Amino acid sequence: MCGIIGYVGEHQAVPVILDGLRRLEYRGYDSAGLAVMGAETIEVLRAAGKLANLEELAFDQPPRGSVGVGHTRWATHGAPTEANAHPQVDADGHIAVVHNGILENYADLRRELLDQGVPLASDTDTELIAQLLGRATGSLFERVEAVLSRLVGQFAVVAVSRDEPNTVVAFRNGPPLVVGVGDDEMIVASDVVALLHRTKRVIYLENGDIAVVHQHEAHIHNDGRAVDRPVETLDWDAGRMDKGGFRHYMLKEIHEQPDAIRNTVRAYLNADRTAVNLGDLGFDHDRLAEVRRIHLVACGTSWHACLVGKFLIERLTGLPTEVDYGSEYRYREPLVGPDVLVVGVTQSGETADTLAAMELGKDAGALLGTICNVRGSSSWRMAQARMLTQAGPEIGVASTKAFTTQLVAMVLLALALRQVRGLSDGTDTEIIRQLLRLPLAIEQAIEGSEEAYDQATQLLAEATDSLFLGRGCLYPIALEGALKLKEISYLHAEGYPAGEMKHGPIALLTEGFPIVTVAPATPTREKLLGNLMEVRARGAVVIAVAEREAADVAQVADIVLPIPAVDRLLQPIVTTIPLQLLAYRVAVELGLDVDQPRNLAKSVTVE
Ligand code: G6P
Repeated sequence: MCGIIGYVGEHQAVPVILDGLRRLEYRGYDSAGLAVMGAETIEVLRAAGKLANLEELAFDQPPRGSVGVGHTRWATHGAPTEANAHPQVDADGHIAVVHNGILENYADLRRELLDQGVPLASDTDTELIAQLLGRATGSLFERVEAVLSRLVGQFAVVAVSRDEPNTVVAFRNGPPLVVGVGDDEMIVASDVVALLHRTKRVIYLENGDIAVVHQHEAHIHNDGRAVDRPVETLDWDAGRMDKGGFRHYMLKEIHEQPDAIRNTVRAYLNADRTAVNLGDLGFDHDRLAEVRRIHLVACGTSWHACLVGKFLIERLTGLPTEVDYGSEYRYREPLVGPDVLVVGVTQSGETADTLAAMELGKDAGALLGTICNVRGSSSWRMAQARMLTQAGPEIGVASTKAFTTQLVAMVLLALALRQVRGLSDGTDTEIIRQLLRLPLAIEQAIEGSEEAYDQATQLLAEATDSLFLGRGCLYPIALEGALKLKEISYLHAEGYPAGEMKHGPIALLTEGFPIVTVAPATPTREKLLGNLMEVRARGAVVIAVAEREAADVAQVADIVLPIPAVDRLLQPIVTTIPLQLLAYRVAVELGLDVDQPRNLAKSVTVE
């Protein structure tokens, strides 16, 4: 959701804040703002729209000062206008606040403040925090302590006060906050990507923490007591966060998949690369061996990875596996207990619904795991066993390399479960051999065929609706392909199991209706081809992802997006690539903002 940054240090705050916001913009980009502690006042700049508008405002006359806060917003309360942008200030303009999250008692607090005659200048819940802090007494820390108990919901807040010109105060309940420890500065941020280029030493704040941050030190309190939080050193490379010559982050990240997959595979294999190294997963072997059922919980693209995971795990281990949306699991009273392994699958490790589902599993005594792309994130710290996908920072809002590395992690998890259950045999070494060859297959899939992509792109760019079809463990890939197209090209697309077409969706077909299908060699390909004949008979145009040499597909499809032949277990990973490239090309063809599609945010930290 929103991106937050706070700075206290040696340098001018505005360039550091704007640079941090640029790196955070993928978390929300409908308005932005900053506040800097001037000699006597807090100077606030805010602008509706993309960060560039704020940068333009700050360019001519940047507020001067070396303490400040900044924010890039994904609107919850109130439209994305200048008045609703953050920072929000109290009635006297003494205190400025930036906030990520939602106050659930917004209506009550708003009524209370209005009854007390407090003039409210925005529709935001954030302003209520600023006003409450302004009306409390004492130091900024004491004010935060006093106000904290009044706030119900999920929030991460960074505040500055005119009366304490050398201090930034941060507090959280839910969404993440980190304090970056530099040589002559401290940076508070909602995400390490905002500060990675300045320091790799970070303190993760826990729920309930209030951090009083000065240039050379941070004092942290929780529940009235001073607490020590460790300074951790990040191993991410800040250099990997530019576009590296590509036109968009999404395209760069698509091309990074061979490396991301190679790194993820290698991270969890033993030295001679013949078996999964269970020790690296952090699982307690005995505890893992007791598992009888598996629950995979996730949102969005990660949920699609779980659907593939269910096929893989059930096929390779025989363990019954259920898949739930994080937002559904917590409310459906799932049958979960100590014999269940609950795995939260989340690239960010911060998705509120996934975390809540994991929490439920943990409370029920389940063994808790996570597949996650961010070391140190909330899901990482909550889980008893962790698999880190080695995708590196993903900036494009539409997930690409984070997804395919999640699929790789699912294969590795299935292999790990086979190992602890004594099921390993020659199959495992063969799967590992295939995994090690996978990066090459991904490279070949990325190469594709220019002509086929051009034709398919034109077809979709001129359409208003499309259907994506697959069968078995390729049906989730059809769902993912449709989601990618929706997310970045705003074209309506649905994923369907091919066999279900005749039970309703076929009614949608008219002359020229685009059908995209995931059709590599499987035991059900003939049936899929039968389904495609039915749609072609009704005028649909078929774009198929299939092996270059698949003559039977070429006969039925109008356009073939080529992939190399791979083992069946790895087909979901390889067939994803053409669908990513297709969605990307359509969005570019339509002139849309590929990396920051409208209304979306990379990390959804509210329920
Ligand atoms: C948002 C993003 C999606 C992502 C989903 C889950 O909706 O836009 O790309 O799949 O959150 O995110 P997670 O970090 O939990 O994988």
